[in-house]
Amino acid sequence: MTTRAPLRPGEISQRRPVPAAIRRPHYLDARPGVPADYDDPMVKDADTIARMRVAGRIAADAMQEVGRHVAPGVTTDDLDAIGHEFVVAAGAYPSTLGYKGFPKSLCTSVNEVICHGIPDSRPLEDGDVVKVDITAFAEGVHGDTCATFFAGTPSDDARMLSDRTRAAMLRGIAAIRPGRPVSVIGRVIESYARRFGYGVVRDYTGHGVGPSFHTKPTILHYDEPRATTVLEPGMTFTVEPMLTLGGIDWYGWDDDWTILTTDGSLVAQWEHTVVVTDDGAEILTAPSGTT
Ligand code: MF3
Ligand code: CO
Ligand code: CO
Repeated sequence: MTTRAPLRPGEISQRRPVPAAIRRPHYLDARPGVPADYDDPMVKDADTIARMRVAGRIAADAMQEVGRHVAPGVTTDDLDAIGHEFVVAAGAYPSTLGYKGFPKSLCTSVNEVICHGIPDSRPLEDGDVVKVDITAFAEGVHGDTCATFFAGTPSDDARMLSDRTRAAMLRGIAAIRPGRPVSVIGRVIESYARRFGYGVVRDYTGHGVGPSFHTKPTILHYDEPRATTVLEPGMTFTVEPMLTLGGIDWYGWDDDWTILTTDGSLVAQWEHTVVVTDDGAEILTAPSGTT
């Protein structure tokens, strides 16, 4: 069916500078023993949520700008430069740059890469599936969002996988109500994905986000009745399903970041940061002009 060659690592460019005037997340100067992430309260106040709307919009706009440049011949390092410049021009810090040693300003996960791909010198090829995941730190909080793009013309299988992964994310978000357990999100996502026989990645999850990048609660994208945390207005977290055209077993490259499907099957991912409202959820990573 596919003649796609396995992905290989390219060269990683030098670290891109961030103007000194831009506020850094605390983990950039973390001393030994200081955690990269704190155990933030799950429920945020109105001011924190307002600041997350700002950070979320910057991340979303940056992601769309990067997505416009996904094309054959463009390297993922070129995409990193575009996203980096956009986030910095907005006065924000690209959260992944220096997070636990991650060397770049966004993640580019190509084809069989599940997540955490490092932008490098590899030029995109016609038909490549490119997940662009950007997090912006602005006003003391993070906004985290990912979408799937294509270089040139994708296969029908790839296009449908991406469309249905986005639909799965939106269904998961639509199931959010105060009083329900967080498990409702994964139950809805997994049951939808199963209709099409897709693999539902289990070992990479959504997460609480706010002043910290990754914090409680954990958001599973599969049905797990033991996830009994009850949704409350003001909780902020990501919903970010990764669906595959095959299995969900994975391995990592020795760059310590890149996670790939063992069977080489294609992966799509979509992600929004959301806040639980009195009657549902609000997407905090909406691009400008959409709300
Ligand atoms: N943005 C990713 C997420 O959705 C996290 C990337 S962390 C990195 O949670 F270090 F890999 F960049
Ligand atoms: Co995330
Ligand atoms: Co992300």
